[in-house]
Amino acid sequence: NPYYRIVAIPGEGIGTEVVAASLKVLQQVAKLEEFILQVDYGWLGATALEKFGSDFPQATVELCNGSDGILFGAVTQGGLLELRKHYDFFCNLRPIRMVKSLVHKSSLKPEKVQGLDILIIRELVSGIYFGLAGRATDEKGAYGYHTMLYYDEEIRRIARQALQKAQQRRGLLTIAHKENALPNLPWTQLVQAEAINFPEVVVESMLVDNLAMQMVMNPQRFDVILAGNLFGDILSDIGGALVGSVGLLGSASLNADGFGLYEAIHGTAPDIAGKGIANPLGTLGACVLMLQQWGEVRAAQRIMAAQERVLAKGYRTADLYTQGSEILVNTEELIDLLLAEIDSKQNS
Ligand code: IPM
Ligand code: MN
Repeated sequence: NPYYRIVAIPGEGIGTEVVAASLKVLQQVAKLEEFILQVDYGWLGATALEKFGSDFPQATVELCNGSDGILFGAVTQGGLLELRKHYDFFCNLRPIRMVKSLVHKSSLKPEKVQGLDILIIRELVSGIYFGLAGRATDEKGAYGYHTMLYYDEEIRRIARQALQKAQQRRGLLTIAHKENALPNLPWTQLVQAEAINFPEVVVESMLVDNLAMQMVMNPQRFDVILAGNLFGDILSDIGGALVGSVGLLGSASLNADGFGLYEAIHGTAPDIAGKGIANPLGTLGACVLMLQQWGEVRAAQRIMAAQERVLAKGYRTADLYTQGSEILVNTEELIDLLLAEIDSKQNS
């Protein structure tokens, strides 16, 4: 039987709750699809700092080395950027897909979002998150700076990933850029140079401010959106509003070897942490991406089908619940419903 070893890093806040919940579902599909999933637990962020004196401890790196994937919850700060950088997880995939039964949860009118299926590809290990930064003082006073630096090759390699994805999808790639103000970062030109090898893909280039507006005015026009680290971060939260809750979105961050970090796009949500009411579907969506990356497509399919059915029956965590015909459930109840759905005969 296939054997996979993953490192679960629950982190803090609702991270611990959604990781535990998702692992139950993963183990269930592992049993059904007859693969073995070994889970080791790693630390990052505040809990790591407490235990090891570092928010990105060597012990975590050693666990992750040679594993088949990292399942990550959430941390408030510290460690995550180092983890992404350490393994060169440059290619961050953030699918924004509208679940049919949730069209009324969108911030937009249902007809604007039905069938919505966008893939945001965000460069994750460079740009302003990792450029020269500091604080200093001159004659005008104290100041801080973060610089947005991209090697041409960093743009080219993420462009190749985005072009490949666009080719496998509907063939439209939209580049997010800000060349009117930041002309030394010529995303359009660099991506177009790579696009020569993908003649079937239509490449368009859009100023990121206009793109943000278009995502809200007419999101169905998009297929794959390619963005640098900061712009991609911002655009993906717009994606959350489009599909009804940022709690629904998962992401995969891959390096050149296909090794990946899998996490929801939401954070630790301190306002609801510890209450057991977090939406686990973002992290579960990340698990689906992990299974797909392994080629365990049937297991991924089982989870997605179960999720659609449970949502179609009206079960909602608090982030998606409105009074009326819907049924409010907590994290554990939602997971139990998913497990039952995965087990049911019609699903096998
Ligand atoms: C995300 C998050 C992170 C980011 C934070 C926690 C550093 O917002 O993954 O979208 O900005 O990359
Ligand atoms: Mn973000």
